[in-house]
Amino acid sequence: MTTATADRLIIFDTSLRDGEQAPGIALSPDDKVAVAAQLARLKVDVIEAGFPASSPGDFEAVHRIATEVKGPIIAALARTHPDDIDRAAAAVAPAERSRIHVFQSTSPIHMEQMLNMTPDEVLTSIADSVARARGLCEDVEFSPQDATRSDPDFVIEACKVAVAAGATTINIPDTVGYTMPDEFAALIGRVAEEVREGRDDIVISTHCHNDLGMAVANSLAAIAAGARQIECAVNGIGERAGNTSTEEIIMAVKTRHDHYPVTVAADTTQIFETSRLVSRLTGYPVQYNKAVVGRNAFAHEAGIHQHGVLKSRQTYEIMDPADVGQHSSLVLGKHSGRAAFSDALSKMGVRLEDVDFQRAFDRFKELADRKGEISEEGLKAIIEEETGIAADVVKLVGLHLRGGDQEPPVATVRVTRGDEPIETSAEGDGMVNAAFVALQDAFGFPATLLDYRVVPFTSGADAMAEVSVIIQTGPTTYSGRGVSTDVVEGSARAFVAALNKAMIDRNGALGGDR
Ligand code: KIV
Ligand code: ZN
Repeated sequence: MTTATADRLIIFDTSLRDGEQAPGIALSPDDKVAVAAQLARLKVDVIEAGFPASSPGDFEAVHRIATEVKGPIIAALARTHPDDIDRAAAAVAPAERSRIHVFQSTSPIHMEQMLNMTPDEVLTSIADSVARARGLCEDVEFSPQDATRSDPDFVIEACKVAVAAGATTINIPDTVGYTMPDEFAALIGRVAEEVREGRDDIVISTHCHNDLGMAVANSLAAIAAGARQIECAVNGIGERAGNTSTEEIIMAVKTRHDHYPVTVAADTTQIFETSRLVSRLTGYPVQYNKAVVGRNAFAHEAGIHQHGVLKSRQTYEIMDPADVGQHSSLVLGKHSGRAAFSDALSKMGVRLEDVDFQRAFDRFKELADRKGEISEEGLKAIIEEETGIAADVVKLVGLHLRGGDQEPPVATVRVTRGDEPIETSAEGDGMVNAAFVALQDAFGFPATLLDYRVVPFTSGADAMAEVSVIIQTGPTTYSGRGVSTDVVEGSARAFVAALNKAMIDRNGALGGDR
């Protein structure tokens, strides 16, 4: 049995029971054992492994977890039916420490519409079932289902009956995610006072659903009112809108220890791995901006934020990402500034001199405006494209394409050579070919295309592609690379890079006629 001390918060993870009840989730016994083993690494205090009476598969999974997973208490859920309690007891029997969690509804709507039972019959069923469970297992928890839509006096009466029958954890569920923090705190305060009657061995617990997005806030309000066990699920999975999320509760009480004077046993560095495993096995994706475990939880894109984080992480981070097994990232996108761009280059081991840096930065901003986020591969291609040629040779400044199905393709290119603008147009047997011919006119010498390759390196409608070309002028070959969200533009950039090298060879950088 885990007994609460005044400041110890028990983390009761129900990912494998309430979490698994979420639509579309069906974990095999192997999957459940894998998640339970990871929850043990996370060092949660209690794993609610399942509802053994619900199916033979669930019985097997709970039994295997109880046999194979060491550390946390292994709990199983049961209705007040004798058979449920016996199945739960048999399933958790092999565990080092086991618990039976009995629940019964106490709200008028559940008692009348669902159970067809009077309040007295409900109280009797609680007394009998908790006593039966206690005869089979030392550690028994009781939950008055739909407590927050029940008469508080009746909730307290039902909980007192459960304690008298041997329950030592009293869990108050907000089954339909209906309550609000101040209201819930008042209920928990009453239960803590009137049901515990000063007994240190009785733990008050909560189990909040997220129908109005209040599960974590309600659980925190309950802690402030005296609850010392929180029922929660990884990534917040569970019935309908889900449960209180395990990672959010753990990190909220750790980060705001000044506000919640409780300690948890969890090894927070396992949080991210646990989240990923649960997401992979349940098929439930984690939203990008999910607190603590979302892909963007420690990602910074705004230039001002990136600048701040580069100076000192705490300027925009209240948790150390390493504490939850994550790491910070500066997303290079259109909001990024020079500081983040320069940081990304140095992480890639690239040092650019002033002019090259400016060219690469300008090109990065231009692409980021169109593409949004630029990956490391994109960055490498930009650097190669922009720094492979001298700053003052021919630069592509515009490309216009027309023609198509019925008419021959025509490309008009605008380049600058030093300060001189040059515009040329040419027809081709395709858009890429037309751009190549127009560029040869702009440079003023012919070239032959020997090799042409396109490598897409991001997916999606606005994917970026890198184009590599090899051209020949006279006896010599020259390579060029270009990157763009548009393949013809990327090709034109690759041609310009290769033609520039050829021109430098032919004339010396700015010398000679074009
Ligand atoms: O939401 C709920 O009331 C439950 C109980 C079984 C605790 O999941
Ligand atoms: Zn629930």
